[in-house]
Amino acid sequence: MTYEETISAYLQRFEELLDRYVADYDCPIDSIKQAVAYSVLDGGKRIRPLLVYLGAEFCGREAADVDYLALGLEMIHSYSLVHDDLPCMDNDVLRRGKPTTHVKFGQDMAVLAGDGLLNLAFETMLCDCKTPFDVKAIKYVADCAGIRGMIGGQALDVVNTVDDVKLDAIEYLNSLKTGRLLKAALVGSCIKCGSDARVIGAVEQYAECIGIIFQLVDDLLDLHSTTDQLGKSVGKDAVQNKKTYVAVAGEERCRQTISSMLDKAIEAVAPYGARADNLITFAKYLTQRLY
Ligand code: IPE
Ligand code: IPE
Ligand code: MG
Ligand code: MG
Ligand code: MG
Repeated sequence: MTYEETISAYLQRFEELLDRYVADYDCPIDSIKQAVAYSVLDGGKRIRPLLVYLGAEFCGREAADVDYLALGLEMIHSYSLVHDDLPCMDNDVLRRGKPTTHVKFGQDMAVLAGDGLLNLAFETMLCDCKTPFDVKAIKYVADCAGIRGMIGGQALDVVNTVDDVKLDAIEYLNSLKTGRLLKAALVGSCIKCGSDARVIGAVEQYAECIGIIFQLVDDLLDLHSTTDQLGKSVGKDAVQNKKTYVAVAGEERCRQTISSMLDKAIEAVAPYGARADNLITFAKYLTQRLY
């Protein structure tokens, strides 16, 4: 299979799995089920599930071995977006080409839908928890998504509007708010697949680099893209006085960092030869994505 065929097969697999899982989930309270379904279904690039599948592939395992982990990661990510968009956070009205969850269902239900998705994520990942590796992977994901990881990064971002913010503080913030969940997806998948320390070290380095790439490209797209292309509001970082990497370092340096992070990501997994081909192509795609 070509890279494109592989990615589209993973995306199709994941979309069908998620649709079925949410539809079949037995919940007697229709209002919250609807808000949860609205927040997680039908939209998004599904980058984190793709990383889960690419991790399993890198370890010579099947997609079926990590389906529940892929579901869990996308649920955590979708919850983080619902909360990130709330009026008390970024106050956004559009997400994935649709009104944000609080615009559609109200702030109260949006808070609950986010909470609900976070719980559902762990319930789902625990459906496939049999070995010590499975336990270790879920623990790793919890840590990455938690107050030392993504939530910690969001906490730093809330106060990230002071004028003299340093570049290394922004790098740290980005590595937490965005990098940690991407890392959770790829490294968590390799942990679940029972990889040795050398493989984990390599995918950790790769994931840290693509985490930086991903947020820098998100910041550049916020500057240069359109709402139609992104399916979310643009130009918000400047309006809200968010100190992004590009705002502080300038575009040229930002693009140089993206390029050097791509080299470093490739360097991390290149020793694994053909096994790493799809990870390498995926990293290149992340530097060039237009939405
Ligand atoms: C947006 O994530 C938030 C960031 C971490 C920059 P994505 O760009 O992956 O959002 P979706 O899932 O495709 O909507
Ligand atoms: C959000 O970062 C990261 C999360 C943990 C949700 P942003 O606030 O830059 O994401 P967008 O631009 O709203 O998607
Ligand atoms: Mg934000
Ligand atoms: Mg935001
Ligand atoms: Mg952004």
